[in-house]
Amino acid sequence: MASSSSIDLSGSTYCVLTGASQGIGRAIAVEVSKLLGPNSLMLLLARNKQELAKTASLCESDNVKVLFESVDLSRAANKEMKGVLENSLQRRNVTDFALNLIFHNVGSLGNLAVETSRMEDVEELREYYDLNVFKVISLNTQFLKIFQDVEDRVVIVNVTSLCAIKPMGGMAFYCSGKAAREMYFRVLAEEKKHVRVLNYSPGPVETAMIDYVLAEAVNDNLRDVFTTFKNQGTLLKPEMTAKKCMKVLQSGKFTPGEHVDYFDDE
Ligand SMILES: NC(=O)c1ccc[n+]([C@@H]2O[C@H](COP(=O)([O-])OP(=O)(O)OC[C@H]3O[C@@H](n4cnc5c(N)ncnc54)[C@H](OP(=O)(O)O)[C@@H]3O)[C@@H](O)[C@H]2O)c1
Repeated sequence: MASSSSIDLSGSTYCVLTGASQGIGRAIAVEVSKLLGPNSLMLLLARNKQELAKTASLCESDNVKVLFESVDLSRAANKEMKGVLENSLQRRNVTDFALNLIFHNVGSLGNLAVETSRMEDVEELREYYDLNVFKVISLNTQFLKIFQDVEDRVVIVNVTSLCAIKPMGGMAFYCSGKAAREMYFRVLAEEKKHVRVLNYSPGPVETAMIDYVLAEAVNDNLRDVFTTFKNQGTLLKPEMTAKKCMKVLQSGKFTPGEHVDYFDDE
């Protein structure tokens, strides 16, 4: 597949999405499910089973069978991740699908109550990096192993952030984690020319994450920025950014591992 060719989601597609229980993940699940062709299969991952079930019910259709699994993605071992993926495929062969798609959407903000110059709790940092970087990499590796014989049908979307490329005071956990995660996917794209890799940055979106910033942040500028976003009504709705993500993905107009932002051509 050429790096600029469009991506056709209308065939039989296998799609994995992390962080699917709410927010942007739920919205992406809903939007992608509308585009998938007959005999498609979706696997939704997060911890909250009830909310996953709600997302699944929004995605299920004649074309799309939806499975979900409650997994703590900060702790799952490689074997567990591989098992979850393999079980979801049931008796389907990896060559059955025209496209094998994974959205790495899971994410958290980390400790917003510690000043960057006072960060020293390595265990806390490690836990943050486990969920947001290390386990994202290991899940991606399990996915690639399963589909290694049909790599040219693999498409990977990493949900990144402006914070991966622009420092934001008060968010050292988040910015450094997003930067590391994005760079991993860029390096992967550099090596795996047949795999399509997109780093999609959704813009500021009205989700639980924003409320967490307002509740926890000690950095005045950070609180001001997000308070202004909220008060001026400039936050995007999850559906808006999910639709844009689909547009970018389907157009295929991104270079390997490119960081594409919601606002890039708005
Ligand atoms: N909101 C924004 O303005 C914004 C801007 C730029 C980028 N982003 C990125 O977009 C992505 C989604 O953000 P969001 O705003 O939709 O956040 P959110 O509402 O907080 O959702 C986070 C998702 O991650 C899941 N999750 C968290 N910890 C988990 C764990 N240990 N194991 C498994 N799943 C876990 C949550 O599900 P459970 O709690 O059920 O496990 C939830 O589904 C993130 O990568 C974020 O960095 C967001």
